[in-house]
Amino acid sequence: MTTGDGDARGIARTADSLRCRLTMALRPVAGDDAGLEARMITEAATGLDRAALRLQGATAVRPAQLMVAETMLARRLAREPLSQILGSRGFWTLDIDVTADVLTPRPDTETLIDAMLDFVDADGRGHGYPWRVLDLGTGSGCLPAALLSELPEARAIAIDRSPAAARIARRNLDRIAPGRALVVVSDWASCLAATGCEAGAFDLILSNPPYIPSGEIRTLDPEVARHEPHLALDGGDDGLAAYRVLAPGIARLLRPDGFACIEIGLGQALDVERLLADQGLMTSVRNDLGHIARCVTARHAMSPAA
Ligand SMILES: C[S@@+](CC[C@H](N)C(=O)[O-])C[C@H]1O[C@@H](n2cnc3c(N)ncnc32)[C@H](O)[C@@H]1O
Repeated sequence: MTTGDGDARGIARTADSLRCRLTMALRPVAGDDAGLEARMITEAATGLDRAALRLQGATAVRPAQLMVAETMLARRLAREPLSQILGSRGFWTLDIDVTADVLTPRPDTETLIDAMLDFVDADGRGHGYPWRVLDLGTGSGCLPAALLSELPEARAIAIDRSPAAARIARRNLDRIAPGRALVVVSDWASCLAATGCEAGAFDLILSNPPYIPSGEIRTLDPEVARHEPHLALDGGDDGLAAYRVLAPGIARLLRPDGFACIEIGLGQALDVERLLADQGLMTSVRNDLGHIARCVTARHAMSPAA
């Protein structure tokens, strides 16, 4: 890729030269991802998809398209996450709408979906069973959206304390699994206790709670510390506050033959396993693709599969 098709002031005239200029400009904030982010901004600004960009890179860029790209670049250089600038992020096989009100779905979180589907595959009930799913701290709704996209008869309740996050989750779930998910604003599962939701009501329980120790939040990348919702990050003094509340609720709401999967932060596996074991659950730890312990799975000790 050359920059030879920019004008004398270095202003891009083609999609290729725009992409090249963006790659160079993004290097200080995006590092090794600069090329990828440049391509995504070029696609969004020009309306060319990945294949078209490769085949028609010499397409002229209109001034209005250039302005869109430059505005996106300025936001990114101010350390806004690309997902919030573009308004979406890929998760599992899906495009998930993202705003500043929700945590951007992370690839590592797909480990929970892998674990759930491994359980379903090993279980006699199969993908077509009407699984009852609960997601605690749903954010964008990425977890139930991915699970419902794989389990055609499943239904989900997705809970978040943030009304703004719940609106995004509702938008994603209504698009991806229409009529199959209910999004509720609640402090964890308290809404279920209040409605008398019976013990053992859910076959599959997911949660990716906030787990960053409060004091560490300001040390995170500015994209996270300044732009992602505090409520999605803050796990209290030791990062474990949410797990202490969630463990008894999960034990109560999980069906005897059900399966739960909870995301954890670095070095939290033993503590979270202990909290769940204290509630009579049997646990194991699953690594992500980077070989880091990423989630704790749990079943009732007396479950048929345990
Ligand atoms: C780490 S984010 C996970 C979001 C999403 N599940 C994901 O994996 O991308 C944690 C979510 O828990 C929600 N949350 C925090 N405290 C909560 C509470 N007390 N009750 C319900 N949801 C809560 C936050 O608003 C946030 O959306």
